[in-house]
Amino acid sequence: MKMLDQLKTIEEDALATLAAAHDAAGLEGWRVAVLGRKGSLTHALRGLGQLPRDERPAAGAEANRVKDRLEAAFSAHQEVLQQAEIAATLAAEAVDVTLPGRPPSLGRIHPSNAVLRRIYAIFGQMGFQVYDAPDVELDEINFQLLNIPPDHPARDMQDTFYTKDPAVLLRTHTSPGQIRAMRQFAPAPLRVILPGKCFRYEQVTARSEFMFHQVEGLAVGKGITMADLKGTLQEFANQLYGEGRQLRFRCSYFPFVEPGVEVDMDCILCGGRGCRLCKYSGWLEISGAGMVHPVVLRNGGYDPAIYTGFAFGMGPERITMLKHSIDDIRYFFSNDVRFLEQF
Ligand code: PHE
Repeated sequence: MKMLDQLKTIEEDALATLAAAHDAAGLEGWRVAVLGRKGSLTHALRGLGQLPRDERPAAGAEANRVKDRLEAAFSAHQEVLQQAEIAATLAAEAVDVTLPGRPPSLGRIHPSNAVLRRIYAIFGQMGFQVYDAPDVELDEINFQLLNIPPDHPARDMQDTFYTKDPAVLLRTHTSPGQIRAMRQFAPAPLRVILPGKCFRYEQVTARSEFMFHQVEGLAVGKGITMADLKGTLQEFANQLYGEGRQLRFRCSYFPFVEPGVEVDMDCILCGGRGCRLCKYSGWLEISGAGMVHPVVLRNGGYDPAIYTGFAFGMGPERITMLKHSIDDIRYFFSNDVRFLEQF
C-alpha cells in the first residue's frame, strides 16, 4: 500500500536526520521539517482523507503510531542534547578548589603616619591634645608673631614657597600653630601637639626634603618651668625608644623661645660609645625646644608676667630614620613600594 510505504520512508528518514541533530538549532530545524505545519509527516497525514475508505483505518493507525514514535524520539533526543550541554558547561566552568588562592595586596600605614600615631599616643597619655593648624600660613604668623621680623637673619634658614600674595606662604615649621592654639585658648592652660607638613625651599638631599613633617609641642600655664619640658621629653624618649634613655640639653637659639635648647638623646645604635649613626659623638639630635618667649606669649594672648610655657619641635621622619637606620629621607616620599613594604 502506497501510504504505508510513504509513512515508513518518512519515519526512517526522520529518525536518521534526528540522530544527526547536534544542537538546539538542528533540533528545531528537524521539528519544523517533520512535525511542523508544513512538515513531511503533517503533509502525509493530510493525505489520509483522500484514501479509499477501506484503507483508511490501517493507514490512520500506522500514521498515529509514526507520529507518536517521532514525537517520543524528538523528546528523548532533546533531553540527551540538554544533558550534554549541561555536562559541557560544568566541565568548562569547573573550579579547581585545590589551586592556591591569590592573596589580595593589602595597603599599609606609611612609616611617617605610623610614627605620628605613636607620637600622638605617647603625648596623649601625658594630656596633650592634637591641634590642627593650616599648611598654608600667613607670613605674619609663620614668622613675625614668632619674633622673626621681615629683616631677621633667622629667615635665611627657613626659605619657603610663596604664593602670589606675598603675605601668604607655605609654613616652614609647625611653630605658627603655637600662635593659633594660644589665641584660641588664652588665658586657659593649654597642652597641645601640632603635627603636620612643613615646607622649605632648599636643595633636596639625603638629609633634607622640601616637604617633611614636624610635631610641635606646646604647654602654657602658671608655673610651668624648664623642668617640665625636660621631664616631658624624657618620658617621650623612654616611651618611644625604651626606658633609660639619656637626654642632653644644649644651648641653642630660636627667636621664639628663651632660653632655647637643642635636645640630644644617647645614640640608639651604640648607646653613646660612638658609631657611624651618631657620627662618633655618642648623641643624636631629636628636637629643638625652649621656654616660650614672653613676646610670643603676649602675641598669643597670655600675660607673660603670669603665665609661662614650653615648646618643642621634632621631625617624625628623622625619628623614623633613627629607629630603622634609614639613611636617606628621600625614600619617604618617592613612593617606591619596595621601601614602603618594609614597614
Ligand atoms: N620650629 C623650630 C624649627 O623648625 C623647632 C622648634 C620648635 C624650636 C619649638 C624650639 C621650639 O627648627
